[in-house]
Order: sequence, then structure tokens, then C-alpha cells
Amino acid sequence: MIPVFEPLMKGNEEKYVLDCLKSNWISAFGKYNEKFEQEFAKYCNVKYGVGVTSGTAALHVAVASVGIKKGDEVIVPDFTMIAPALAVVYQGGKPIFVDADSKTWTIDTNKIEEKITKRTKAIIPVHIYGHPCNMDPIMEIAEKHGLYVIEDAAEAHGALYKGKKAGSFGHINAFSFYTNKVITTGEGGMAVTDDKKLAEKSQSYRNFCFDKERRFIHHDIGFKYSLSNVLAAIGLAQLEYIEETIKKKIWVAKTYNKHLGKVRGLTIPFESRDVRNVYWMYGILIENEFGISRDEIKKKLFEKGIDTRFFFTGMHKQPVFNQKGNFPVSEALEKKGLYLPCSVNLTEEKIRHICNCIAEIKNNPSK
Ligand SMILES: Cc1ncc(COP(=O)(O)O)c(C=O)c1O
Repeated sequence: MIPVFEPLMKGNEEKYVLDCLKSNWISAFGKYNEKFEQEFAKYCNVKYGVGVTSGTAALHVAVASVGIKKGDEVIVPDFTMIAPALAVVYQGGKPIFVDADSKTWTIDTNKIEEKITKRTKAIIPVHIYGHPCNMDPIMEIAEKHGLYVIEDAAEAHGALYKGKKAGSFGHINAFSFYTNKVITTGEGGMAVTDDKKLAEKSQSYRNFCFDKERRFIHHDIGFKYSLSNVLAAIGLAQLEYIEETIKKKIWVAKTYNKHLGKVRGLTIPFESRDVRNVYWMYGILIENEFGISRDEIKKKLFEKGIDTRFFFTGMHKQPVFNQKGNFPVSEALEKKGLYLPCSVNLTEEKIRHICNCIAEIKNNPSK
């Protein structure tokens, strides 16, 4: 079976992990935590990194640090994985969903302002599948209405918008290092920011909000989200060759594009001018002209030993939120979207094989 994604560990991961074990420092706040935070923040061109146990935890400390509380509204894209919406809910806030842009699949910046009310406190743009959001209008809207911006860059390490890194636009921003991410620590995440106060608040929230002077005194509701030294060690090793990984991810995407770009009925991923899409996942849309349903293609590819995944289901449709509204793009993406295997160890031969299987399904649907 060709999996949708396999992690690759080809650098100093083992060496650094063994160093943690030998030094007996396996919990948080070790030397690899410090180094990984410094180096990852530097990679993103921001001053501070706060390592935590997951991308969801990074979003949660970010949302808490900007002061989201009960009754506050936060703009979140409808087409996303659920974590940014949950981070808002964890603090008692309400996510307000905005439809996606039909080309980039990220938040439609023309539809944000109509959702802003007196209660709106922040916007969480999500860089979907490695394609950065259109950050200029987002930052302008935020400034005009006095809102915080928290980028969810869980899927977009190293992505560029007008030459600037994803994760360097918002007031405080979140990354995930889950196994299938551009770089991984297995489970892990980081909040990054240029703002010293937000960094300090995030550091406090990730570790129970201990009073600085007197441990075991707590003035606020903190969480237990510190990243372990062992996982930070893996992250540091992964970071050392992140640009090589990104180049390979882009190569995988371009190789798919070469083979699938002319197949009638398929829409391949878009890359706006002025961005570097890092193609965290390689997603395609199966249009009606293809002649076979997206679900049938998934089933047939699986029978041929190729694993794929459906796109996200819009947030407004989640039973847990059940928010009414008009989200035509998000709904179309959910119906048509399929992402294909995109590990960095894929060869041209394997990609060609996957593309040939797709062509065969189109040409011989009964087979
Ligand atoms: C857009 C987005 N945000 C947040 C997360 C949450 O990251 P984690 O799984 O590390 O909690 C993910 C994970 O897939 C994601 O895709």
C-alpha cells in the first residue's frame, strides 16, 4: 500500500534523542527545547518560539494569550481542520465561519468583513494544505477593526507570501509538528511571535500559569502543554534539513501536475502569484466531467494499493457547531476533494504509477 504520508528521519534525529536519554533529561525545558524554539523562531523570522505538545495546544495558548474569553467572536475559515475552531471554544469564545476562496481554498478575504460584529476580537487565517492565505487584506481588515490575527500555519512550514514566511504576519501564530507535517516531532507544536508579552503569556499558559515568584500559586487557568526535550530533539534535527524537505514536497507536487494537469475533469492545486505553496498535502478536485465519482475513485485506488483521503468537511456542517449559513465553496471542496500520497520519499516512478491508475480508472471504469 502506498500510504498518504510517511515521515522521513534522515538527519541527526537518533543522535540528538540518544543525547537526551544519556543526559537523563527527557521532560520539558531541556537544552533541545531551548535550541529548537530559538532556531524555529529564527527560521520563521520572528523573535520567540513557545514549544508545546501539539498544534492544537499552540493555537490554544495563542488564543488564550490574546485574551479571548466568553462571549468573544473569532473569525475562522469554514474549510479547515477543526483545531482552530476548538481553540476558540476552549476559551469560551465563538468561532464565526467564513467561506473559502475557490482557487486557493484558504479563507475568502472578501467575505470576512460582513461577519465582523462588536464582539469580534480576532481572525484565525489557516494556510490550507501549504498554500498561504492572502495576508495583506487580512492584516488590513484586522488593523481597521482592531483585531488580533493568529495564523494557523500547522500545514505551512516554510510557505512564503510575498517573500515573507507564513507564521510571521499575525500577532501570534501556531505550527503543528504532528507526524504528517512538513517537519515533525511525532506529536508537538509551537506558538511563534515577535511580541514579548504574548510570548511570556504563552509560556505561562503552557505550564499551569505558575506565579513567577511563588510556585504553586496560580492567578489564571493554565494548561499542561510543555513539549518534552526528546521531541524537541527530533524537531531540531528535522529543522536542519527543512528546506530540502520543502524542495522535495514541491517536486512531488510539480511531478503530479505534469502527469495530471491535462486530465479532463481534474482540477490540480493552485499557486497564487507571489507565494510559495509548500504543498503539505497534494489535493485534487474531481469534477463532473471526470465521469466517475470521487468516492468511487478513492475505492478503486485503494483496491490498487493506493491510499488517499477526502478533504475536510466544513465547520458549519459539524454537528458540534451546527452553524447555519451559505458556504458554497467549502461544500464543493468537501464533495470533490481528494488528496493523494505525498511523502517526500516518493519516486517519479511511483507518482507516475499513481497517475496511470487514475487514468485507467477514467478510461476503464468497469475494471
Ligand atoms: C490546519 C490545522 N490546524 C491545526 C492542526 C492541529 O495540529 P495537531 O494535530 O498537532 O494538534 C492541524 C492538524 O492536522 C491542522 O491541519
